[in-house]
Amino acid sequence: MPSTVLIGAQWGDEGKGKMIDVLAERNDLIVRFQGGNNAGHTIRLGDSKFVLHLIPSGILRRGKKCVLGNGVVINPEALFNEIDMLKKAGISVKNRLFVSGQAHIIFPYHYLIDRLREESKKNETIGTTKRGIGPAYGDKVSRVGIRACDLIDPKRLKLKLQQVLKEKNDILTKIYKVKPLSFSKTYKQYAKYGKKLKPYVIHTTYYLDEALRKKKKILFEGAQGTLLDVDHGTYPFVTSSNASVGGALIGTGTGPRAIQKIVGCVKAYTTRVGEGPLPTAFPPYLARVVQTRGEEFGATTGRPRRCGWFDAVIARYSAIVNDLTMLAVMKLDVLDGLSELRICTGYRLRGKLIKKMPAQADDLAACKPVYERHKGWMTSTANVKKYEELPSRAKSYLRRISALVGVPIGVVSVGSDREQTIFVNAKK
Ligand code: IMP
Repeated sequence: MPSTVLIGAQWGDEGKGKMIDVLAERNDLIVRFQGGNNAGHTIRLGDSKFVLHLIPSGILRRGKKCVLGNGVVINPEALFNEIDMLKKAGISVKNRLFVSGQAHIIFPYHYLIDRLREESKKNETIGTTKRGIGPAYGDKVSRVGIRACDLIDPKRLKLKLQQVLKEKNDILTKIYKVKPLSFSKTYKQYAKYGKKLKPYVIHTTYYLDEALRKKKKILFEGAQGTLLDVDHGTYPFVTSSNASVGGALIGTGTGPRAIQKIVGCVKAYTTRVGEGPLPTAFPPYLARVVQTRGEEFGATTGRPRRCGWFDAVIARYSAIVNDLTMLAVMKLDVLDGLSELRICTGYRLRGKLIKKMPAQADDLAACKPVYERHKGWMTSTANVKKYEELPSRAKSYLRRISALVGVPIGVVSVGSDREQTIFVNAKK
């Protein structure tokens, strides 16, 4: 089965949007399986820049079909805004976008509670995107969520919303001391969304099964990254879904044998947005240089991303969790001007050398990185088209990353354009 899963192998923002756009050309269907409009995939096409939060980036490739699987949480307003934005750019989603009836819907109480919960914490905030992601997944697991199949049925929507809003209004008024949400206003608004969403809603599990039987190629588009995975990431500083490879199966109803390639996207350095440990964080002057050169500002919230050296410990961990078959190393060009580079090969935790990621976020925060140093190549890689033509120091940096992570590099990206993509033939 020729399916590919594209996974963020760090803390998100690895450049998956560009990689999906590149890989979409070789696939027939592009499928989101987790997360919601907390994601932000940026794709540059000539002079135009598209930021997609919900709809798979494959929509920008003519003729490709796109699916929002059951594992995604959908804010209908955000979805329709994106559909409108695409329409304005001359891109139609008709008969190309399908939404799982089992996908959960984000309601105003989700993003209200997300924000209020964050604001009420004195410390230990997560630094969420405040898009209601955690509360929506919380409701899913608590079995009080409202799904797309409920949204498109006004009677069912009414019944479910009546039940759930009562409890949510208690939380809003009694715990957070804010005004309750009006049932009639919320119902009216969401019944309208349901009507609009109906043409897109299908049973995507069967749709994908049929596609696989017809030997169609599927690209599963991960959002966020493995270190933000609710099970495998730096809990509690994580998102609320499974951003690692298992999420692709659970979040679509596809079996493991459908998957052949698992591509891990990493930046040539490391970034993180939101709270939580980042052991390899740059000193402030270098952080500013890389933040500026790499345009390291969140595509969803505009927050500056923290930047640091490539951390081979967390990338190796991602390789294990996801069984990565290939690495795509993004934004190599951002390092072009640095005279010395470092790669983190282990940590010192309370005086002891460790090579594995600790399970506790507190312990990771206490880790002091152990670095090996590499000379920088000090020349532009932005126009390099072939792996062989990369500066030898850049190649040795990449070889070292590949060896430490234990995964061959298949793609190196040296700029945001589709053209600035180097395909590596099984180079270790
Ligand atoms: P949430 O997903 O909004 O609940 O946020 C939880 C954590 O995940 C926060 O640290 C966010 O900054 C982070 N996060 C969520 N989505 C993304 C993303 O697309 N890229 C990078 N970080 C993200």
